[in-house]
Amino acid sequence: MDNNKKTWSGRFSEPVSALVERYTASIHFDYRLAEEDIRGSLAHARMLAARGIITQEDLAAIERGLGQIREEIREGRFDWSQQLEDVHLNIEKRLTDIVGDAGKRLHTGRSRNDQVATDIRLYLRAAIDEIGDLVGALQQALVDLAEQHVETVMPGFTHLQVAQPVSFAHHLMAYFEMLKRDAGRLSDCRKRVNQLPLGAAALAGTSYPIDREMVARELAFDGVCENSLDAVSDRDFAIEFCACAALIMTHLSRLSEELIVWMNPAVGFITLADRFCTGSSIMPQKKNPDVPELVRGKTGRINGHLVALLTLMKAQPLAYNKDNQEDKEPLFDTVGTLIDTLRIYADMMTGVRVNAAAMRKAALQGFSTATDLADYLVKKGIPFRDAHEIVARSVQYAEQKGCDLADLELSELQRFSEHIEHDIFSVLTLEGSLESRNHIGGTAPQQVRKAIARAKDWLSAER
Ligand code: ARG
Repeated sequence: MDNNKKTWSGRFSEPVSALVERYTASIHFDYRLAEEDIRGSLAHARMLAARGIITQEDLAAIERGLGQIREEIREGRFDWSQQLEDVHLNIEKRLTDIVGDAGKRLHTGRSRNDQVATDIRLYLRAAIDEIGDLVGALQQALVDLAEQHVETVMPGFTHLQVAQPVSFAHHLMAYFEMLKRDAGRLSDCRKRVNQLPLGAAALAGTSYPIDREMVARELAFDGVCENSLDAVSDRDFAIEFCACAALIMTHLSRLSEELIVWMNPAVGFITLADRFCTGSSIMPQKKNPDVPELVRGKTGRINGHLVALLTLMKAQPLAYNKDNQEDKEPLFDTVGTLIDTLRIYADMMTGVRVNAAAMRKAALQGFSTATDLADYLVKKGIPFRDAHEIVARSVQYAEQKGCDLADLELSELQRFSEHIEHDIFSVLTLEGSLESRNHIGGTAPQQVRKAIARAKDWLSAER
């Protein structure tokens, strides 16, 4: 076959223009599906031979040809052609060049529509497995850092204002929880990705006596897509994956924002290892948190890809439409960006250096133990709302005096309530505040240690 003649151009009276050819081609991005395409083709060919639809000789030729093509691609010797439109037609054409008619028989009972859907699912399944491992590695890095900081007290914030003291480990473990849900979402998504479209052919199935279960087993799919129209047309599995990815990036962008704030010299809670920062070309003193900033920024594009795929799918009539060719670039970029981000993040977290003194100093400001004083009064029988009022007045007084509640004399505190006694001073310490929140999910060091132990168990069971 001449390269200028399209595989499908038998009924056409004029060739497409150069612009249309470039516009409709997908080879410049879908070449990445080559390995999956070959795997899918091998499984399809083996099934065709097992069912007597092609001969064993044809199968042997196809296996030999595809094996050779795989080597050519891996070694960078494969000549991709835009005229051949996409990865499927490039490989099929080369196969026919190598093995002749047997290559032309490979496409029996198959269409590029079920072929491409299969390739993407194989690609995405492997990506999900890799991403799942990387999420686990980041969780491990968080746990490792948390273990060293169970007793490190930092201010917990609401509205980015000092609220109550918390253990730094507790704060880190909040991200462990988010990532744990992310991992759960990914493995749930994987179940729906891992269904075989092949056999749906163009849209209605095929008249050959195919064995879809055999192909599913060969490619390690959990089952077959049960409606041929749906199998070739829907990309909901890719959208779902992009939603998982957007949530992971959203969680990481929150952590990034915190790292950026924490390493601001005015805050000074942490430093990041130099290899994750860059300097300024004009201001010699600067050390900028480029990596967390980029993670925060790249979250925008991942969210964009999710919206792109949702919009791509919206209002597409059944079954396959060429629109679906547009699923690949957002998906590939989502996978690539997420993998790089997770890899770099796990490494970055192992290089976080904590300035416990700065955290402590900040926790001592902003009346972070005021709630503890209110709780103390409640335990003495005062209704919470009245206690709240008493503490508010004490805070106002201390603020005017320019000191913390714990710095006030007992006699000064007693002006606001006669129920306050000397034992109040242990309540107003940061440690007292932490220790009192001693229930599952609370920030008491004892609880945080338990949370870390549970996390380690979960990680060793998951990974
Ligand atoms: N390159 C196409 C895609 O990515 C392959 C399927 C083409 N099918 C067709 N009927 N034009 O979706």
